[in-house]
Amino acid sequence: MNLRGLDKSRLPRHVAIIMDGNGRWARLRGKGRIEGHRRGRASVRAVVEMSRKLGIPYLSLYAFSTENWLRPKEEVHALMGLLEHYLAVEQPKMMRHGIRLLAIGDKYRLPPPVLRTLERAVKATQKNQGMTVVLALSYSGRDDIVRMVQAVAREAKEGACAIEDINEEVISAHMETRSIPDPDLLIRTSGEMRISNFFLWQIPYTELYITPTLWPDFREEEYLQALLEFQRRRRRFGRTDEQITQPLCSVGRNR
Ligand code: IPE
Ligand code: IPE
Ligand code: MG
Repeated sequence: MNLRGLDKSRLPRHVAIIMDGNGRWARLRGKGRIEGHRRGRASVRAVVEMSRKLGIPYLSLYAFSTENWLRPKEEVHALMGLLEHYLAVEQPKMMRHGIRLLAIGDKYRLPPPVLRTLERAVKATQKNQGMTVVLALSYSGRDDIVRMVQAVAREAKEGACAIEDINEEVISAHMETRSIPDPDLLIRTSGEMRISNFFLWQIPYTELYITPTLWPDFREEEYLQALLEFQRRRRRFGRTDEQITQPLCSVGRNR
């Protein structure tokens, strides 16, 4: 693919994507919503493969929110089936490409066969070092914060940590995302200008990119556009333009 001036030395370290618009994609074509979800899987493959090729180390995909459990039973059932199938089919490919799979969210709400397939894929790929794909399943940013508060409070109560020592690092270390850097770029497809309970704590200085493109139409070309736009942004992290000499990623932002 022609990368049209993409600077490979200034890529985001972590791209997060809210994959939205499957239902509208299907409706526009007179098809059922499930067909949109089915087509969306090809977009997942496209962004994973392209991230791997470019050398983006972390990619998080918001696949199912806790609120999505409220959808019609048939749709939830179909989504779970597609997820299970995707994981089973992709696992050998992840092994071939050195991709490590992580899952965040309340995975115990997933139907047992889906949970088993997920855990199998996570375990099989745990030593892979090429890149990390984080699947957010039954994920809620607020849930993540609530569980972090519970864990920190428990440690404080047990005397393992003093209240005065609770700081940003401690909080980050108790979030489900503890082992991954904050996203540098957050993409949302289908034009909605909201976060829909995805990462909340993790995105204080993340660059936002919202495109009207519906998820099943988001392929290599659209991803490239998002990355090029990211490289045009000036990340100031609160400072002035004149002070900026640092790279695009938040690594060592103010620590
Ligand atoms: C995203 O597409 C997939 C999930 C949220 C699971 P939608 O199903 O939300 O599609 P729209 O937003 O209704 O078009
Ligand atoms: C956000 O999309 C969740 C995922 C993409 C998994 P929704 O379609 O659920 O978001 P809202 O309801 O439009 O905010
Ligand atoms: Mg939606």
